[in-house]
Amino acid sequence: MPPVRTSAFKQQLQDFDHFGKPTEIFSRRFEGSVVPYFVNEFWTAKQRAADSLHEVSYRACFKPQLPRFFVQRLTGPRDKVYDPFMGRGTTLIEAALLDRVPLGCDVNPLSRLLCEPRFSPPTLAAVDTRFSSIPTSPAGPVRQDLLAFYHKDTLDEISALREYLMNRRSTGKFDSIDGWIQMVATTRLTGHSKGFFSVYTLPPNQAVSIESQLRINERRKQIPPRRVVREIVLRKTHTLLAKTSPPSETSIFDRGQEAVLLTGSAGRTPRIESGSVQLVVTSPPFLDVVNYKRDNWLRCWFNDVDSEAVEVWHYKKPEEWQAAMTEVFKELHRVLRNSGFVAFEVGEVRNGSLQLEDLVVPAGIRAGLCPEAIVINDQKFTKTSNCWGIENLKKGTNTNRIVLFSRGSDLSQSGAKPSRTGHQPGE
Ligand SMILES: C[S@@+](CC[C@H](N)C(=O)[O-])C[C@H]1O[C@@H](n2cnc3c(N)ncnc32)[C@H](O)[C@@H]1O
Repeated sequence: MPPVRTSAFKQQLQDFDHFGKPTEIFSRRFEGSVVPYFVNEFWTAKQRAADSLHEVSYRACFKPQLPRFFVQRLTGPRDKVYDPFMGRGTTLIEAALLDRVPLGCDVNPLSRLLCEPRFSPPTLAAVDTRFSSIPTSPAGPVRQDLLAFYHKDTLDEISALREYLMNRRSTGKFDSIDGWIQMVATTRLTGHSKGFFSVYTLPPNQAVSIESQLRINERRKQIPPRRVVREIVLRKTHTLLAKTSPPSETSIFDRGQEAVLLTGSAGRTPRIESGSVQLVVTSPPFLDVVNYKRDNWLRCWFNDVDSEAVEVWHYKKPEEWQAAMTEVFKELHRVLRNSGFVAFEVGEVRNGSLQLEDLVVPAGIRAGLCPEAIVINDQKFTKTSNCWGIENLKKGTNTNRIVLFSRGSDLSQSGAKPSRTGHQPGE
């Protein structure tokens, strides 16, 4: 695909009217750069439902429509699409479904374990058959404190499955069906419905402490009911595979074979070749909003991962967070092609009193990237609420805000110096 011109993409944002609303445009100055904001309902849950393969719960994941919007417009088939904070792998799965090569990194080992198996989904029958050879009684000791979450027989099955997976790994027999079962079981450990192994607890992607769970049980007068691990894993497998159909089925497998999944820090990724990536779509850990370590302790236990050893970024001070992001942007600058882009989702934190783009735009500039636009996807945006502006940005809203950087710019592609003054809307 020929290099995507930034101005053409901005024109698309400006002209966008898929849902009958005009794009609102205004601009702000960030240090030396004037950056245009584009506000519209660019993607929505009303659009073609996302592929069912995405339906794996993870704290602070974004909807597949977000990476799809940028992948479809800023890359071509077989281009490399990268997420340095991949989480459950939304960007990677969507990229592979769209026939792009997925690359990802996350410091949390659970991330790879949740993403990789979905590049080679097994059949329901294969998963069912595999369960026939998985013991339901553990050989070793069982963690009695976990009875706060599970019925005794369910806990036996979970413990036996855990032993089986560890054994398969240590004997080199672990295969893609084991990987799939491990991924599904990990996401079924706790939740608030019959689709999970546990008694009612907080949402599926967070595990409370044992003490908190005992308090929840007391308050709700509940005792963990019997849940059958095999049945739940098969039911979830059925749901995950429900909407994957050709050609997505072929491209997820083919592009998945080329996937690069790293476990480590986003600031240092020597395994990703310089100048190779066309597009980065990502959302970083937002200051101290989500405590990935605390939320993931049970998933880590099940997968024999030491949650204390996972160095998840959890900065309290904005300037420290900004310094970390600057290092990531330097690394992204290295791995991007000249014609490449970064779509960096930023949240509203501290009740809207802190706009993360105020930290992100300067961080990107310091790393040599050009801030091109801030894209705000506002699903409630209507003609009559056409009152976007700085004040509106401060309100806590249900929006996605994406800072778009290019590695160069339209000017740099033609050999001129990159602009440091930014662009006016429609430029
Ligand atoms: C907001 S989540 C990303 C969610 C992802 N967009 C998705 O849809 O699942 C941020 C991720 O950053 C990861 N993370 C935290 N510190 C990191 C670091 N130093 N390097 C790489 N990943 C990190 C966390 O483990 C978490 O998965």
